[in-house]
Amino acid sequence: MGYTVAVVGATGNVGREILTTLADRNFPVDEVIALASEKSIGQEVSFGEDDILKVQDLAKFDFKGVDIVLSSPGAKVSAIHSPRAAAAGAVVIDNTSHFRMDPDVPLVVPEVNPQAIASYEKKGIIANPNCSTIQMVVALKPLHDRFKIRRVVVSTYQSVSGAGKDGMDELFNQTRAIYVNDPVEKQAFTKQIAFNVIPHIDVFMDDGYTKEEWKMNVETKKILDPKIKVTATCVRVPVFIGHAESINIECEEPITADEAREVLRNAPGVTVIDHRANEGYVSPVEVAGDDPVFVSRIREDYTVDNGLSFWCVSDNLRKGAALNAVQIAELLAQDYLK
Ligand SMILES: NC(=O)c1ccc[n+]([C@@H]2O[C@H](COP(=O)([O-])OP(=O)(O)OC[C@H]3O[C@@H](n4cnc5c(N)ncnc54)[C@H](OP(=O)(O)O)[C@@H]3O)[C@@H](O)[C@H]2O)c1
Repeated sequence: MGYTVAVVGATGNVGREILTTLADRNFPVDEVIALASEKSIGQEVSFGEDDILKVQDLAKFDFKGVDIVLSSPGAKVSAIHSPRAAAAGAVVIDNTSHFRMDPDVPLVVPEVNPQAIASYEKKGIIANPNCSTIQMVVALKPLHDRFKIRRVVVSTYQSVSGAGKDGMDELFNQTRAIYVNDPVEKQAFTKQIAFNVIPHIDVFMDDGYTKEEWKMNVETKKILDPKIKVTATCVRVPVFIGHAESINIECEEPITADEAREVLRNAPGVTVIDHRANEGYVSPVEVAGDDPVFVSRIREDYTVDNGLSFWCVSDNLRKGAALNAVQIAELLAQDYLK
């Protein structure tokens, strides 16, 4: 049996990757519908190698008869249209931040808390976590099960594709402008991103953290364990695709680098590449288009009891967004939808 699937935000970075991922993984579809804003009506997007879809207007679309909606049009747009789609009978997997901390909406990473999907019927919406949270919790989960993590200190190195297609265009245009001596213009980012790094993602909160940093804290608690303490510093870097994270953990149980490496090697969704030699670790440009969360540079932190540091890299559009959403859809189809 196949499903009628609507992709909302189909012209965007995440929406296009969702269409590719659905096709790559042979998700059982009878029909795929591409939706975006009014300005994209009639634009064509690819679904797999052979199919071209004509984009329709989200605002005018009637979701009756749609089984699954994969939604990434931004938080404000989702706030209006995801409940509308759910009311029409669809199950919505929402990639935006809008519903993530709603107690009646499960926040799911299939390798970590697949059981949470069961409560989707309360609102008909399942939230996909923030891209930086997803890759971190996939790596933390097996370590937490074995060594009980108490505290996480994380610094992120986040690519511009995390800020949508406008972010990618801005890095390209600024880089070009610098080479040809044109003025550098900025809109998507608060400072020049070409040849620079910016310690500011999403808005500032009253306590000095940014909202991106807050999301990594509260989402990790909701997905993995409310007792884990997380302090994050989130940084935008001039990389097109792939987020990297420097992660330091303190555990209740003694932990060695060898034990951690072994646990991570056997964990779902994780690939360990850790050779302690030139090129024996992973960097973002190497993982664009790949599915796993890659872990490298595993080493003990001698400055605290039971401490470990490691480096974690993943494709933010793939596991950080589209793949995670499609994996949720696969679990829904397998275990919940008739
Ligand atoms: N990029 C990531 O790594 C990532 C990861 C996880 C979650 N997310 C979240 O996913 C969402 C989209 O991210 P993105 O990177 O795909 O952004 P993007 O490249 O800027 O794409 C935005 C998409 O939303 C559509 N859209 C915007 N306003 C709309 C409206 N009023 N009605 C209908 N469609 C509208 C756009 O359609 P038009 O082309 O017609 O404007 C486009 O398809 C954001 O909420 C983001 O936080 C992103």
